[in-house]
Amino acid sequence: MARFLITSALPYINGVKHLGNLAGSMLPADVHARFRRLQGHDVLFICATDEHGTPAELAAADAGQDVRAYCDEQQQIQRAACDGFRLSFDWFGRSSNPPNHRLTQHFCEALEKNGLIEERVSKQVFSKTDNRFLPDRYVEGTCPVCGFERARGDQCDNCGSLLDPVDLINPRSKISGSSDLEVRDTAHLFLLQSKMQDRIRAWVDAAEDWPNLARSIAYKWLDEGLIDRSITRDLSWGVRVTQNGAPRPGFDDKVFYVWFDAPIEYIAATIEWAEATGGDWARWWRIDKGADDVVYVQVMGKDNVAFHTVSFPVTILGSGEPWKLVDRLKAFNWVTWYGGKFSTSEKRGVFMDQALELLPSDYWRWHLMANAPESADAAFTLEHFQQTINADLANVFGNFVNRITRFGASKFDSVVPDGGTPGAAEATIAAELNARLPTLTRFHEQMEFRKAAAELRALWAAGNEYLQVAAPWTALKTDRDAAAVGVRTGLNLVTLFAALAQPFIPDAAETVLNAMNAPADARRWPDAPGERLIDALPRGHAYAPPDVLFKKIEDADVAIWSARFGADG
Ligand code: 2FM
Ligand code: ZN
Repeated sequence: MARFLITSALPYINGVKHLGNLAGSMLPADVHARFRRLQGHDVLFICATDEHGTPAELAAADAGQDVRAYCDEQQQIQRAACDGFRLSFDWFGRSSNPPNHRLTQHFCEALEKNGLIEERVSKQVFSKTDNRFLPDRYVEGTCPVCGFERARGDQCDNCGSLLDPVDLINPRSKISGSSDLEVRDTAHLFLLQSKMQDRIRAWVDAAEDWPNLARSIAYKWLDEGLIDRSITRDLSWGVRVTQNGAPRPGFDDKVFYVWFDAPIEYIAATIEWAEATGGDWARWWRIDKGADDVVYVQVMGKDNVAFHTVSFPVTILGSGEPWKLVDRLKAFNWVTWYGGKFSTSEKRGVFMDQALELLPSDYWRWHLMANAPESADAAFTLEHFQQTINADLANVFGNFVNRITRFGASKFDSVVPDGGTPGAAEATIAAELNARLPTLTRFHEQMEFRKAAAELRALWAAGNEYLQVAAPWTALKTDRDAAAVGVRTGLNLVTLFAALAQPFIPDAAETVLNAMNAPADARRWPDAPGERLIDALPRGHAYAPPDVLFKKIEDADVAIWSARFGADG
């Protein structure tokens, strides 16, 4: 049986992530990890905070904190939000931890031995007041394209133009505000991606398990031609640049570019996991150490695809060492906030910690996955959220569980009743299960989250239809055996539906499975035929009806939340 290594794109350390970030990487990765575990696979699910780079330094400076102290604090905050969302990471590491420093330096040295690293001198903005070179994002000025006065050296946030710091009008240092700047020569390490063009293309050609979004982005980059790119920056916070294990001369004020070390953290976080648990990291990552039966799945937003299909593979393949490469890459479009951007500063949108103040994680998990931005961007609106939750969770699943467990408690002593013979209604629902379960399984296997949620919803709805037809409440008046069949089948469906819901809504599913006293094999991913599944619990098996599973979202809730989170756009 294959083993699954699953990584989610690493969230930047600065600030709790919004629902859009969650929906495009960590949450779907978690749903898939849970599904594979239920199938019985050995799963290692890895994530970490992405802590280096200018955004972290700038955010720490804004918060008036030392960057390490800032990262320590933010890591705890993000960890708590991830726990709250039930993200079942086997390890939530930190790219600033020692294993990543060691491994990043190792990769650079291996690449250099293979002729893929070159020191090149280039022109860069130097601030005399700050006495240092300024990374692109540390230079601010007026955009030459649109006239926006706070454009960054790398990009204008107003018009989106990609910029070079030397293009800015009235450039100034973001650190001191000084405009006493000049352009000086400085050396940086360049990764010679152009030399790897053919190898990367051959590898992408062979990667048949990638969805279209990922393949098309990879080919776009390859068709434009891979360019050599600088992998060092003038910063103090980050991984130091070494040569033969010692500090590299001339690089005292430089560190590796955050996008060079961040994906290496996928491996390094696994080393952190191994150090903490006694696990064997190499069995997951090294082909020469037994990782050949590993299926490696990466999940990310579309802006990350080029880094994962081109840049990181250049690092891995260029090292010449037998590392595991991604097998299946799932990429997402954006979740927008009413069609616009989420923004902390402008108070637009719900962020992970705020979401959990409003409602339990299952509500958000379900809505975000049932409307996953798979084929296009998806707008989050509170009205749509209300609609999905009330329809799918409260009316369909919650109501189903409630109705039959309560009826069975009051008329059949809270046990799975014996007696009666299944008839046409049971044959229909069994056939429905036989048709839909393999489809649901396939959608999960293909990481088609929206379709998987729709299929699960259809199963829940079929359960409600079954109860309509079997109507044990009516049957009871004339034929207790017929009612017993309806209750028995209904209770088995409750257990089955909860088992199937575990990847999406783990807490509610667990509540139901515990209420049903579900045995271990009823909690795994089912592969038995429908006829068996509707009669799996032993006759006489005791249960207790759970409390109401989901409360409806009222219009008044939506009104309050809209005012708080800027729903007017
Ligand atoms: O875009 C982002 O949020 C990055 N922090 C993702 C990094 S993924 C990996 F390569 F580390
Ligand atoms: Zn502009």
